[in-house]
Amino acid sequence: MKKRLLLAGFALALGAGYTLTAFSQVKPEILVKQRQAAMTLQGKYFGPIAGMAQGKIPYSADVIARNAAYLDVLNKMPWDGFAESTKDVTVKTAALPAIWSEPAKFKEAQEKFQSAVSRLVAATKTGDEASIKSAILEVGKGGCGNCHQNFRQKD
Ligand code: HEC
Repeated sequence: MKKRLLLAGFALALGAGYTLTAFSQVKPEILVKQRQAAMTLQGKYFGPIAGMAQGKIPYSADVIARNAAYLDVLNKMPWDGFAESTKDVTVKTAALPAIWSEPAKFKEAQEKFQSAVSRLVAATKTGDEASIKSAILEVGKGGCGNCHQNFRQKD
């Protein structure tokens, strides 16, 4: 009996989550938090491999292959968090108005980043250290850096 109740409660909780997503009524403050969380994780997995490409951290092909694969998934997550509903949030955000005034350019920056990550993933399969390192640097410069330059407030 108790177990049944528990299961029913679980199903309800799941259902509520799906409903929210389906009708995109997620609160703007939550969307901001989620997109920042996705960015934070990108930082977590990109930081060490950037250090390896720059020779500041000992090179590890295994760590690079793993982190590149994580980034290949993470790089799809932040974008729906930049919904129009978040334009005027009062919570702390570094998102610049250009995200909404120049949507095509913002989209292009996402795509440029995603293809740089794809090239990195491909490079990890060749095992060629020099091309892996240059692919990492390109993710940083043409991907993260290029977008932050235009769409993130400098602190
Ligand atoms: C297409 C644009 C774009 C790309 C590409 C991008 N970012 Fe961001 N990033 C942003 C924006 C915009 C913000 C500000 C989000 C906010 O504060 O609401 C941000 C915020 C961040 C933050 C701060 C998160 C926080 O908690 O406030 C980190 C860390 C970060 N990005 C890391 C990265 C890394 C690492 C990469 C590349 C692997 C990357 N980003 C790629 C646009 C981008």
